[in-house]
Amino acid sequence: MKKVAFLTSGGDCQALNAAMRGVAKTLYHHYGKDVEIYGILDGYKGLMYGDYKKMKPKDFSGILTVGGTILGTSRQPFKYMRDPDENGNDKVKLMKETYKKIGLDCLVVLGGNGSQKTANLLSEEGLNVLHLPKTIDNDIYGTDMTFGFYSAVNIATSAIDCIHTTAASHGRVFIVEVMGHKVGWITLYAGMAGGADIILIPELPYDTDKVIKALEKRNKEGKDFSILAVAEGAISKEDAALSKKERKAKKAASPYPSASYEIGALIEKKLGQEVRITVPGHTQRGGSPCPYDRVLSSRLGAAAGKLIIKDQYGYMLALKNDDIVPVALSEVAGNLKMVDINSSIIKEAQNMGISLGI
Ligand code: F6P
Repeated sequence: MKKVAFLTSGGDCQALNAAMRGVAKTLYHHYGKDVEIYGILDGYKGLMYGDYKKMKPKDFSGILTVGGTILGTSRQPFKYMRDPDENGNDKVKLMKETYKKIGLDCLVVLGGNGSQKTANLLSEEGLNVLHLPKTIDNDIYGTDMTFGFYSAVNIATSAIDCIHTTAASHGRVFIVEVMGHKVGWITLYAGMAGGADIILIPELPYDTDKVIKALEKRNKEGKDFSILAVAEGAISKEDAALSKKERKAKKAASPYPSASYEIGALIEKKLGQEVRITVPGHTQRGGSPCPYDRVLSSRLGAAAGKLIIKDQYGYMLALKNDDIVPVALSEVAGNLKMVDINSSIIKEAQNMGISLGI
């Protein structure tokens, strides 16, 4: 009897359920009744405290299109994994005990960067682990794409589309703040898809004068409204030059809740134009996965199922040049995939006259 468990960890995203369904369907197709699948509840917390349930084939029916995760999730930061829990217990030991108690052959972790590091840690500790790269941020190193990304891009683009009509009617400057943690993938794609005039991403610290100049140029051209797509992690050149400590102190003392509000205040001060800010926030992580994510997650899931059948562990399943390939966790864990500032999409955006604030 093959015993496999799923665990969804960190911020949720679209197509988590679709990915688990992909693995489960592959395993049931191969093993029939000779496989037991377990769902670990609420991420690594469930693995630590033995919170899990045995799944049935019908649990994986009807979930292809369902957002969120049927298992629940939680954030258990990697940096605290080696610290004892509130009762003084060794968290890694607890997780290994649950794995052994169920008698697992493999633990499939669906998670982002931090969860991947813990997956690698468990793999180093001798557990059979596979990782499926999920996150709206698309920042997982070693895969061309993560599932969740395109669904989030769709939602952020819809937000910009809706803003377009009201911005044009009122002749206002609008800032749409887009998620993405430390990287600008969603902002860049949604910004281009939504026709933003200015796109600011963390990988390219912006020059405030250049942002103002880009708006002035539009005004001179008789365009009385402008749209900025600003990544939640966007950073000015001045702030990028500060040390981490100085940045932290500046942020703590800032009256602005985020970069968008700071930029908005600057535009109002310098140009006297009315600015409105829209933050779609967690809507970007919600709802049904888009068709691309359903296909990608199903493919990654099916490939993970195949590795389990072959007893090959310690890998992340990755999309590379449209193939799904295994990549050693030890090679990718701890790395971040940022937007390459020399990539052609950056040049294409600039060639179209989109300001990147540089
Ligand atoms: O990693 C996904 C993500 O949605 C980021 O884009 C965002 O910065 C973060 O999670 C928000 O985290 P939380 O849901 O804990 O507020």
